[in-house]
Amino acid sequence: MTTNLRNAVLVAGAIAAVAGCAGTGSSPEQSAAWDREAQEVMARSFRDQGIATVDRLKQDEVMAACSTHGQHIDDELRERIQAAAQADIKWPSDGNYLGDWKEGEKLAQSGRGMTWSDKADAPNGGNCYNCHRITKKEISYGTIGPSLYQYGKLHGNTETTQKYVWGKIWNPNAYTACTNMPRFGAHGILDEKQIRHLVALLLDPKSPVNAE
Ligand code: HEC
Repeated sequence: MTTNLRNAVLVAGAIAAVAGCAGTGSSPEQSAAWDREAQEVMARSFRDQGIATVDRLKQDEVMAACSTHGQHIDDELRERIQAAAQADIKWPSDGNYLGDWKEGEKLAQSGRGMTWSDKADAPNGGNCYNCHRITKKEISYGTIGPSLYQYGKLHGNTETTQKYVWGKIWNPNAYTACTNMPRFGAHGILDEKQIRHLVALLLDPKSPVNAE
């Protein structure tokens, strides 16, 4: 068999296998078995190193519910997850939501932190550009999350918006139960001062986010 032909046969086989799965569906028992197998492979593949420990592989209740139900999560469970996250938000101790947008931009750019080579007491970055467009000037950004460019211009720098952005960064699950955005405050990734800077980055009228 030529290499091309062999590849063609392999591809046809793979398509048949995928079609087979899609056609017959999989029982809950089969899904649970695959899930267990995946967990075992992950447990075998990772080990603790520095501050990056394998307990991160353990799903909490919210992650487990979202893995199981995804977008099909029912209203009651969605409400329950959001209400628990909402109650968990720590609001700014001095009632002030806005920091320095310049510091916020540095944090949004920085993806540092929480890896095995980081020190436990080194401050983490916010990594926001990995998922969001934010300023016009920065052309390197991810699209997992919506564009935040002109966020303040579009939503207004009111206390209601400041509160929402704060809460969203603290624990995004409070507003979108099964979001892919990290829980920066709730998980101790960012502290109060850092969150203030990020709220300013999005809402301060002087921030380049709100420039033309
Ligand atoms: C891993 C990807 C990811 C990272 C990193 C991330 N976000 Fe998000 N973000 C999302 C997704 C996905 C959404 C849309 C779903 C939702 O609302 O939770 C979102 C939504 C938002 C919203 C709400 C937008 C709206 O109009 O309601 C804000 C504000 C926001 N992110 C700010 C930030 C900030 C600030 C950072 C950095 C500290 C950040 N995000 C980091 C994925 C991410």
